Amino acid sequence: MSFEIPKNDKLLKWVEQVAAMCEPEKIHWCDGSQQEYDEMCAQLIKSGTFRKLNQEKRPNSYLAFSDPIDVARVEDRTFICSISKNDAGPTNNWMPPKEMKDKLKNLFKGCMQGRTMYVIPFSMGPLGSPIAKIGVEISDSPYVVVNMRIMTRMGKAVLDILGDGDFIPCLHSIGAPLKPGEQDVPWPCNKEKYIVHFPEERSIWSFGSGYGGNALLGKKCLALRIASKIGYDEGWLAEHMLILGVESPQGEKSYVGAAFPSACGKTNFAMLIPPQGFTDKGWKVTTIGDDIAWIKPGPDGRLYAINPEYGYFGVAPGTSVMTNPNAMASCAANTIFTNVALTEDDDVWWEGMTDEPPAKLTDWQGDAWTPGCGRPAAHPNARFTSPASQCPSIDPDWENPKGVPLSAMIFGGRRKDTIPLVYQAFNWNFGVYLAATLGSETTAAAVGATGNVRRDPFAMLPFCGYHMADYFGHWLQVGRSVPKPPRIFSVNWFLKDDDGKFLWPGYGENMRVLKWIVERLQGRTGAVESPLGWMPRYEDMDWDGLPVTREKFNALTSVDREAWQTEVLSHEELFLKMFDKLPKELLRMRELIISSLWRSPEHWEQIGDVHPEGWNE
Ligand code: OXD
Ligand code: MN
Repeated sequence: MSFEIPKNDKLLKWVEQVAAMCEPEKIHWCDGSQQEYDEMCAQLIKSGTFRKLNQEKRPNSYLAFSDPIDVARVEDRTFICSISKNDAGPTNNWMPPKEMKDKLKNLFKGCMQGRTMYVIPFSMGPLGSPIAKIGVEISDSPYVVVNMRIMTRMGKAVLDILGDGDFIPCLHSIGAPLKPGEQDVPWPCNKEKYIVHFPEERSIWSFGSGYGGNALLGKKCLALRIASKIGYDEGWLAEHMLILGVESPQGEKSYVGAAFPSACGKTNFAMLIPPQGFTDKGWKVTTIGDDIAWIKPGPDGRLYAINPEYGYFGVAPGTSVMTNPNAMASCAANTIFTNVALTEDDDVWWEGMTDEPPAKLTDWQGDAWTPGCGRPAAHPNARFTSPASQCPSIDPDWENPKGVPLSAMIFGGRRKDTIPLVYQAFNWNFGVYLAATLGSETTAAAVGATGNVRRDPFAMLPFCGYHMADYFGHWLQVGRSVPKPPRIFSVNWFLKDDDGKFLWPGYGENMRVLKWIVERLQGRTGAVESPLGWMPRYEDMDWDGLPVTREKFNALTSVDREAWQTEVLSHEELFLKMFDKLPKELLRMRELIISSLWRSPEHWEQIGDVHPEGWNE
């Protein structure tokens, strides 16, 4: 014990109960110090979980290879165990809480034998901020402890603030007890996995996995699934959103929240570097967060957002000095890499980091790798865990306990057709509609056939801790009660032409869309009314340095009526799944969209492809 045990009855009792159930060899209360971190990393090297990377090239950084059966979030093993099944809704796995607890108690019985049980106090949100929530994770994984120290504010300071107050208990075990004398493996875990949330009790039990969102319980489990339910009860929002700041040459600063399903480039958008011409003119983008936003009404009638996290758990493959120099700088030191490849000089590499792969690598499974061997060197879901403070574009207000006022919210999926580059919802309710019906093509990383559109409402499908239709209703309610809500926009960076080539360059060029959005908010640029919402005309966007023809712009902004007829049918499919609780406004809005698609058939025929040139000013 490195410090005095706190006088918090609930905490002490819980730790005692968990220890009695899990039977660890010893208990360690984490103080969160650098010394503790260094000692645990040294221990992880000894146990074979970590390799220390080249101190010159990647100072104070480590690499872990996980077990191939433990490489990603396990959505089919994730449960929302509300008392009533109807409170979990049709998009969540559910089991009666009592039945689930009995099952879990069986699994957790003796599950920490031969291991140390770590007590990890953490704060989601700045220490002591009224918006922050305190959690305590109990885990038998030292890998979890060191990652939690990067991803959250963690340690003794949190207990000092907690005092005898309340906290969210988060119980985690890798589910791999050690018999006396048994040799440990580098990545202990269990075939059987359960990621379980009890929303009424506000507690989390996670068993069997040591990876990412399954094990770092402050992130998806607390800050999204449990927090979304708390937000529903208390009148605020916990969202799967990045938060960024845009500074105009006039010095105006606008903050924007943006929700995209996993693997749609959220970290890249959060850390966007504008094209040279824009930077020269004085445009600047700053980063508040890359994954989660807690959004609350402020005293001035606006919505204020904080990033409850302290670090990035970013997807490594595809990240490079070209695609995201800020992310590369963030993981230049003090970083834990998981499932990337190891170079001959003890640095890291992953697909997309450089055009030419190194001649020889050790792949994420620890095997020798050469280019052309037919296997990826890094796992597609390989990650870096880096302190947010290391991001060069970090916003000066990223730790402001009051949060930052949101002027706009953006929703986007991966769609090769149907959804235009950008449009602004006519009003809050239409914005809720476009977010509720957000769809994204499944990628190889997700289960099921690739290329199918999966509805991922608000990019929250795997993260909403209660009934999705109640969640829609909650959003509509926020619009009724907040006097100055942000404007809502839809974007799609992933449109393709008939040859399957991307129509839009993406990355830094997304600044052009962002600029239209913030100038629109400031009344500095124009827009026309489309069947879906307000859209830029060609001349409303800044094309300096990017030769986009009018023809290409029309392809990027056209609304294909036939495709939209199919699209609205698929919205209906989603709505039918949750019809009993669906706010009926959404059905009416669907009708309104259908009727505006039909608004002027002659006009539609005349101009063929419907794009902003033909619409009302
Ligand atoms: C993530 C995810 O890891 O959304 O952020 O899957
Ligand atoms: Mn995410």
